[in-house]
Amino acid sequence: MVRGIYNERRIYMELMNKILEVARRDKKRIVLPEGNEERTIMAAKNIHEEGIAFPILIGDREAILNKAVQIDIDLTGIEIVDPEKSNRLDKYIQSFYELRKAKGMTVIKAEKIVKDPLYFATMMVKMDDADGMVSGAVHTTGDLLRPGLQIIKTAPGVSVVSSFFIMVVPGSQYGEEGMLLFSDCAVNPNPNEDQLAAIAIATAETAKEICKIEPKVAMLSFSTMGSADNDLVTKVRNATEKVKELRPDLLVDGELQLDAAIVQKVAGQKAPNSKVAGRANVLIFPDLQSGNIGYKLVQRFANAEAIGPICQGFAKPINDLSRGCSFEDIVKVVAITAVQAQQGLKKQKEN
Ligand code: ACO
Repeated sequence: MVRGIYNERRIYMELMNKILEVARRDKKRIVLPEGNEERTIMAAKNIHEEGIAFPILIGDREAILNKAVQIDIDLTGIEIVDPEKSNRLDKYIQSFYELRKAKGMTVIKAEKIVKDPLYFATMMVKMDDADGMVSGAVHTTGDLLRPGLQIIKTAPGVSVVSSFFIMVVPGSQYGEEGMLLFSDCAVNPNPNEDQLAAIAIATAETAKEICKIEPKVAMLSFSTMGSADNDLVTKVRNATEKVKELRPDLLVDGELQLDAAIVQKVAGQKAPNSKVAGRANVLIFPDLQSGNIGYKLVQRFANAEAIGPICQGFAKPINDLSRGCSFEDIVKVVAITAVQAQQGLKKQKEN
């Protein structure tokens, strides 16, 4: 059955509305280091007005206010922090130096690095002066990830930071009525089998926490249940076994080809005994080449909404944007980051 585009639009809107509603219930402070950038200023205004979070713009105050005037935006009530003039700067330099001294950091180098808005914003999150960070309208994914990996590091019990996309595919019945999670499409170039298992577990958790769906996780390959033999396939097969061992409560299977993972008829032929094959709503790609190419194929050829990349596994949430993003995309990623911050604090209290 091919469903209409309106059904997927409805699912997408319902998901985003739910995320926005949860974000509003307990507003978090989200820092935006690209404070002088037009779409970021527009997003900050919208986030503030709609009560989604407390946005904090980073950069030269005068330059930000001038840019806002040029685009006819009133930033009254929105916090602006200039790293060069901040009274937190010395504290951040000292803490960053302490964090990185074993890696050869000096106070002189730390002073220069921490004044960089991306590092300053990451330090704000580290030092609890913000609950999360969103960047990437100007910077690359690597620019954002490096300070995150160096300063925020992974959450307790998590070995690897990774990313996911929420894909909403018009006219598709696959996954959860056209909605699927794809991972890892943005961070780990070539995960080993332990890392691949960790990525699968993290994405299953995300499916529950953010998308409120019961995850059915397919470990993707060019082979289905032993149809081919190769080191690349062995990696996926071993990772699948590790997920099953570590998390027997999760529905996971592999190795599966993409069609066996999502098409019931193909699953019936290739993996008839699998509880996941034909029904998968979480797709784990074996490496970054396949993951990144895979999500872009679906996004472009199927005209799918691709929400992300959203990072998972950081001790506190920091998230990337596409450089082609709209201000609405920034608002959505801020809302997701705020929900991740809420979930992180909840977990901290539980432990
Ligand atoms: N999880 C946890 N820690 C990590 C990870 C990870 N995935 N990757 C690196 N680290 C740690 C390292 O152990 C190291 O820690 P330490 O300095 O405290 O010892 C620190 O992070 C820095 O590691 P490096 O290896 O020096 O970092 P690297 O220069 O390799 O950068 C990065 C890591 C940025 C994630 C790199 O792997 C990368 O560029 N990935 C691809 C990003 C990309 O281009 N994505 C595609 C585009 S996105 C899109 O299209 C949507």
